[in-house]
Amino acid sequence: MRVLGIETSCDETGVAVYDSEQDLLLGHALYSQIDIHAQYGGVVPELASRDHVRKLVPLIKQLLTENQIKPNDIEGIAYTAGPGLIGALLVGAAIGRSLAWAWQVPAIGVHHMEGHLLAAMLEKPAPTFPFLALLVSGGHTQLVQVAARGKYTILGESVDDAAGEAFDKTAKLLGLGYPGGPAIAQLAAHGNPDVFHFPRPMTQRPGLDFSFSGLKTCVLTTWQAQAQNEQTRADIARAFEDAVIDTLAIKCRRALQQTGLKRLVIAGGVGANQRLRIRLTQLANKMEASVYYPRPIFCTDNGAMIAYAGALRLVAGQSDPLSFSAYPRWSMNELS
Ligand code: KG4
Ligand code: ZN
Repeated sequence: MRVLGIETSCDETGVAVYDSEQDLLLGHALYSQIDIHAQYGGVVPELASRDHVRKLVPLIKQLLTENQIKPNDIEGIAYTAGPGLIGALLVGAAIGRSLAWAWQVPAIGVHHMEGHLLAAMLEKPAPTFPFLALLVSGGHTQLVQVAARGKYTILGESVDDAAGEAFDKTAKLLGLGYPGGPAIAQLAAHGNPDVFHFPRPMTQRPGLDFSFSGLKTCVLTTWQAQAQNEQTRADIARAFEDAVIDTLAIKCRRALQQTGLKRLVIAGGVGANQRLRIRLTQLANKMEASVYYPRPIFCTDNGAMIAYAGALRLVAGQSDPLSFSAYPRWSMNELS
């Protein structure tokens, strides 16, 4: 089945076509709204929705033309139904549902985090079930035991800020641009790791939950107490990045030990962080486990992961009715 995937949950308009019979991504296209939101220091929901309205249909046309795919070739449509910004989600859901009606094909609303979770399946070699997934995005930080497709058990999650959110807020405190993750990573590369040391939150007690909100207070008090020059900024960025990476690695090790799983899958925007990838690869090697990453552009939001996750469900016979909904809050525990 050839499935058109549509992602509009936040500030990227992403589209892709995945062919389940060939297990092949036929094409993907992405339009990022970063320039629109950067001047406000974060995503402005209403501006995000309006821009998805402007960009989505032309982007679908471009995707089909560039990859010589005809509307007739599309056999199903998958759109992100949540979680995310409600206005932004409704744009993708309405356009996805309308195209499905016009083209007389089934459509399905996909859980955004299930998309992230399965993104590594688009790579070769793809992970096989069961595996442990570390989902680290702007809105979520979760360790998920994946027994099979649709069988997800959340083993731990952030009790406050998500890892990506911590990157974004810390970047703002240090006067860096939006999104914060890439900005901090770039600066941290010039930082001295031995100048500052920040705590590894919640690693001293048992359990697999995370807490990242305290780190930004450490960053703020350290930054205010120092001579505010470029080197100090880089040293703080480095100490912050080290604290987040170390914390994620400690919890991944614990979860692999607890579950006995031998495959670790990384997903979500923070998964694009090169130093995190190196650290988790070293951890997996030490534990004789394998680690799987999507290519960096499929770590952040994209249409390919939605096309893939939707195709699996459509092929299994699932679909949504003509009336559609979007769910700004939606737990993966509710999926089947
Ligand atoms: O998965 P994603 O694109 O959107 C959500 O579903 O939230 O993740 C976006 C998050 C942002 O917080 C961004 O700062 C972070 O991923 N991010 C990074 C890097 N690239 C993106 N964090 C750390 N290092 C990076 N290289
Ligand atoms: Zn995402």
